[in-house]
Amino acid sequence: MKTIVAKADPAHPDAEVIRKAAEILRAGGLVAFPTETVYGLGGNGLDDAACKKIYLAKGRPSDNPLILHISEREELGKIVREVSPAAKKLMDAFWPGPLTLVFPKADIVPEKATGGLDTVAVRFPSHPVARAIIRAAGLPVAAPSANSSGKPSPTRASHVEFDLAGKIDMIVDGGAAEWGLESTIVDVSGDIPMILRPGAVTKEMLEEAVGSVAVDPAILSKPEGDFRPKAPGMKYTHYAPKAEVWLVRGSREAVAACINRLAEAERKAGKVIGVMATAETEELYNADAVLSLGSREKLEEIGSNLFKTLRKFDFLGMDKVYAEVFPEEGEGMAIMNRLNKAAGYRAIDAEKKGEKA
Ligand code: TXA
Ligand code: MG
Repeated sequence: MKTIVAKADPAHPDAEVIRKAAEILRAGGLVAFPTETVYGLGGNGLDDAACKKIYLAKGRPSDNPLILHISEREELGKIVREVSPAAKKLMDAFWPGPLTLVFPKADIVPEKATGGLDTVAVRFPSHPVARAIIRAAGLPVAAPSANSSGKPSPTRASHVEFDLAGKIDMIVDGGAAEWGLESTIVDVSGDIPMILRPGAVTKEMLEEAVGSVAVDPAILSKPEGDFRPKAPGMKYTHYAPKAEVWLVRGSREAVAACINRLAEAERKAGKVIGVMATAETEELYNADAVLSLGSREKLEEIGSNLFKTLRKFDFLGMDKVYAEVFPEEGEGMAIMNRLNKAAGYRAIDAEKKGEKA
């Protein structure tokens, strides 16, 4: 399959590009497009066959449900059975934007989209290109992140091309995705809203809008046995570059000393070693590649550079990457959730002479 790649300026999306994308979606094809979080791989969310194509193109396990994207709040009524008062408050506060809500699903939503669950995840993105495409298609658009399953989510059209060119009909290039981490997912199908995946809309922001919210305990620790994440997709290996990633905890000095010591020994043994550092610390390391995620003072900058940087380590051919960690509050919760998954929960305590944590 030849994949069409077309640019759409978010300030003035080209009408012809939007028309073409909508036509492909209506005909059952697949279009990748930018959102304010990451690039999505869109298909008709009410069409079993289109949803099946999405799973195939990504190599995604079929029990991992999709998010349906809408372009107007009024479209919600067609795809969900019930909207709780808490859900309404969250929609008023954060839609359109990087928040996905999980509702009891309406019958019209096919099983393929929800992986057989009785609930459906819905997002109303704010990105003008995403909204224009969804509006023109006139459908709820199922759109997982537009990466090959298991890889870091794409924050640039070039990432989508690298993973999916030849497998999908069209890629709409609207420049860099602003947030760079996927949306916050909150389940509003029960009594108390529960965060299933942390994102740009933080726990603190949700609490301000709706009172208390629960957090799926599997978000920050390794899921084992019955301790399974409630968002089915969160149980799979994810965001993983080819290199083995290790998180290193401890004071700035201890982390630098620990990483430099390990890296020196491994480089002597012929391994290629990367360090994922920050603007404040990058000077402290000796390794084959030291990449900064941005300033520790600006967690949103760290979040928006994370997936791009993980992909860059792949491109540079690292065997192993040591990564600094961040506080788990605010936006840090989303960053640490993705970092833990990228590292498969491998961590070292630098204060204890590099013991495995
Ligand atoms: O920011 C985003 O949310 C991006 C952009 C493209 O909108 N999309 C995205 O989709 O991240 P995806 O498919 O990569 O991640 C969807 C997550 C998965 O972990 C999935 O298990 C969970 O949402 N999910 C979907 N439907 C669900 C449901 N009914 N109940 C619980 N979790 C659900
Ligand atoms: Mg994904």
